[in-house]
Amino acid sequence: MNRLTGKTALITGAARGIGFAFAKTYVNEGARVAIADINFDRAKSAASELGENCIAIEMDVTSQTSIDSAIVEAVNKLQRIDILINNAALFSAAPVVDIKREDFDSLFSINVGGVLFTMQAVARHMIERGGGGKIINMASQAGRRGEPLVAVYCATKAAVISLTQSAGLNLIEHGINVNAISPGVVDGEHWEGVDAFFAKLENKPKGQKKQEVGEGVPFGRMGVAEDLTGMAVFLATDEADYIVAQTFNVDGGQWMN
Ligand SMILES: NC(=O)c1ccc[n+]([C@@H]2O[C@H](COP(=O)([O-])OP(=O)(O)OC[C@H]3O[C@@H](n4cnc5c(N)ncnc54)[C@H](O)[C@@H]3O)[C@@H](O)[C@H]2O)c1
Repeated sequence: MNRLTGKTALITGAARGIGFAFAKTYVNEGARVAIADINFDRAKSAASELGENCIAIEMDVTSQTSIDSAIVEAVNKLQRIDILINNAALFSAAPVVDIKREDFDSLFSINVGGVLFTMQAVARHMIERGGGGKIINMASQAGRRGEPLVAVYCATKAAVISLTQSAGLNLIEHGINVNAISPGVVDGEHWEGVDAFFAKLENKPKGQKKQEVGEGVPFGRMGVAEDLTGMAVFLATDEADYIVAQTFNVDGGQWMN
């Protein structure tokens, strides 16, 4: 199927993991895609793997200059941005008494500031060119409730859900739909890092946390990036025009709301 023919998308943090799976699916659905990532080498090899309808852009979502120049470059190279996926994020874990201000600042700068100011820059472009657009923010089940060792990451993802609500309500008057996807636990390089945090903090052998969380998913296994691509395509199509300011759990049944 080619449900995104003629559309263009900018996906942050798409050099690997879930963002890369989104880029691949969007290209397969007929879109032209910009993979925007702080890891430019990896973004370039990811884009070349996806062929001529995919380009790489160097972008650090914590820097306003970088956001602004990435949007200009994407608009120059793709002619317009129809879809933005705010996907770039960092994870960290620590008991509350050990949380470091640097970690707090860094996570909020990427996971929250990055989402807000990239959304703002792309929304300005969409409003100026007219015709609306779709913005999809990556939240997490971590934003639905706290976790004892994950206070900061959970707070950033709760903020993403809240920003999605406010921006969704504010931008729909311009025909811009802002919604979010809330994954549960998704296997990949990111989870290697998460597992390593828990191995250290909970004294578990490497791989044990990952096994435990997989067993705890009602569906019966951890997610894979491809479990999320259907929702990412749907939210980018006209079929989702009437969906505003929502966050959708795609998590194998882990969370209900
Ligand atoms: N993997 C999971 O279990 C899971 C669960 C819930 C939510 N999520 C969310 O889904 C999204 C993707 O997760 P993932 O597992 O693919 O992550 P990942 O760590 O594999 O990929 C993140 C990407 O973001 C890039 N990045 C980091 N800092 C950046 C910056 N300042 N500017 C631009 N790019 C930057 C990295 O280079 C990397 O390519 C994230 O928002 C994450 O919080 C993931």
